[in-house]
Parts: sequence; C-alpha cells; structure tokens
Amino acid sequence: MDDALAGTRVLIAGGEAGAAQALGASLAAGAAHVTVAPDAEAAAQVALAGRPDVIVALGAAERELRELLDPLELRSGPPLVAAADLDLLDEEAEKLGPALRLRALLDRTALERRARDLESALAAQTVARRRDLDTARIEMLRRLALAAEYRDDNTREHTERVAALAARLGRRLGLSELALTHIRDAAPLHDLGKIAIPDSILLKPGRLSAAEFEVVKTHAEAGARVLAEADSELLEVAENIARSHHERWDGTGYPDGLAGADIPLVGRLVHVADVFDILVHERPYKDAFSVEDAAEEIQGGAGTQFDPEVVEAFADLGPRAWLAAPGVYGG
Ligand SMILES: [Fe+2]
Ligand SMILES: [Fe+2]
Repeated sequence: MDDALAGTRVLIAGGEAGAAQALGASLAAGAAHVTVAPDAEAAAQVALAGRPDVIVALGAAERELRELLDPLELRSGPPLVAAADLDLLDEEAEKLGPALRLRALLDRTALERRARDLESALAAQTVARRRDLDTARIEMLRRLALAAEYRDDNTREHTERVAALAARLGRRLGLSELALTHIRDAAPLHDLGKIAIPDSILLKPGRLSAAEFEVVKTHAEAGARVLAEADSELLEVAENIARSHHERWDGTGYPDGLAGADIPLVGRLVHVADVFDILVHERPYKDAFSVEDAAEEIQGGAGTQFDPEVVEAFADLGPRAWLAAPGVYGG
C-alpha cells in the first residue's frame, strides 16, 4: 500500500460512520490526508472551501453531490469518485488496495482531463482558422464581384444594397443573426457570374435579343460554379444565392426552374431585393421607376414571380427600410 496517495488530500463524503472510517483508514495507509464529511451537504462545503484533490463519496452521497455542485465545479474541480468504484475494478485490481485503486482512478481522470482540454483548444483553433479562411475567401470574391460591377457604371453599389435589403427582409421573417450575417456577406456575390458575360452583351444599350438574354442567364450557374464545393457554410449560402436568385415562385425562372419552397429562401429574399433595386436605379436599357411604382411591381409579382411571404415582409418594411443605406440593418 505504502505511499500511493502521498500528499493527496482525500475528502470522504457520506455513508455510514463505520464504513467511512474504514475507507479513510485504508486510504490513510496509502499516505493520503483524509477528511471525513458526514453527508453530501457538509462535503460540498468542505470541497468548495478546502479544495481536496479528490472526493470519494459513499452510497447516495455521490448522486447528491452531483446535484449540489455546479457543472463547472464538477468539470474542473476535484474529481468525484464513487466509493463503490474502488471495490469493483477488474480482477487484476482486486489484488490492489483501495489506495492503489484510487491512485489509478486519479491518474486516469487527470489524463482524460488533459485530453479534453487539448481537444477543446484544438477545436477553438480550428474554428478561428476557419473564420479567417472564410473572411479571406469572401474578401477575394467580393473583389471579383466588384470587378464585375465596375464594368457597368449604373450598378455600382447595387450588390451591397441588395445584400442589405435581403438581410432586412430576412430579419422581418425571423431568421437567426447568423443567417442574416451570412446573407449580408454572401448576397453581394449574387451576380458574380457576370464576369463571364461579354461586355458587348452586358453593357449593350437597348433591349437584348433572345439569344443575348440566354447568354446573360448563364451568369447564375457560372457564379454558383465559382462558389461551389467549398467546405464553408458561408460560401454554401453564397453558392445558393448565386444559383437561385433568378428562380421564380411559379417555376418559370432560371437556371433550374425550381418552384415555391424548393427555391432556397436566401434566393427568394435576394430575388425581391435585386428586382426592387434594379427597378429604382437606372439601367442602360431603361429609365428608373419611382419607388411607389417599383413597390407596386413587387406587390404584383407576389405568388408568380416572388414568394408571397417575402413580398409581405417587403410591404411591412416600408419605403424607409427599402431605401436605407447598406450599413443600416434595422427594420
Ligand atoms: Fe443576377
Ligand atoms: Fe443583381
């Protein structure tokens, strides 16, 4: 038995006085400093004040102590061991006395805790690195989107306004803060695929021919392809938006002809915000609408072009939120 527990402060909690004394004596034989508390409540007080290295609880005291001590105390405070576990180890351990068994349990607990700490440190590091990576990717893609935008003077700042309005619509529909952050960061990339459209079509004054319009339509898929297969939630949202922001509620949109709730919600939000923004800002092929006319156009598209619930959220927001600066997310 000798000094397996040398210097270890053991608090024995609960149980019958005789059993507690006997256990205390056998642990003291292993050179432990033993304190005995008659019940769980007394033990909890001693544990919080005196910081033993381990609590060995007899009978019901183990469950009672788990209820008394808060989870943090149980996680990082002295290990709480059931006295029964000192009797019931494997056969090899049968030969050892309670002091050696407690020593083995303590070593195992210390090891487990070290592994757990290491794991959470690693997890935190991974999350931080992933966030940095996401930020860098989005920043790069934003620059790409800007490059696409700069080719068309009339749509400057269009992407930021669309993202802001889409996020306001999302907030109105009760989306989580995380989802709204993703929309703000990802929606500016909705027309990323326009980098693939020739200037002769993108910047053409006047109406596009049917063939030219077919080319313009490819920007949804092209943008999604650039954003595809990233192992990041944010880029997945960006991909969804790029691909689905021209789908129509009635299934006649592009590129996939999705209908109703099959269209990702983020795409339905951006669709409304995008059309509204295009209507109130001049484009090469037409004059701008007044805000009232643009709002009427959105209303008129409820259930055919647009998700009726998104249109309802749009109407609820009102002109101030429709036209607020991109940095303003209230409403
Ligand atoms: Fe688009
Ligand atoms: Fe757009």
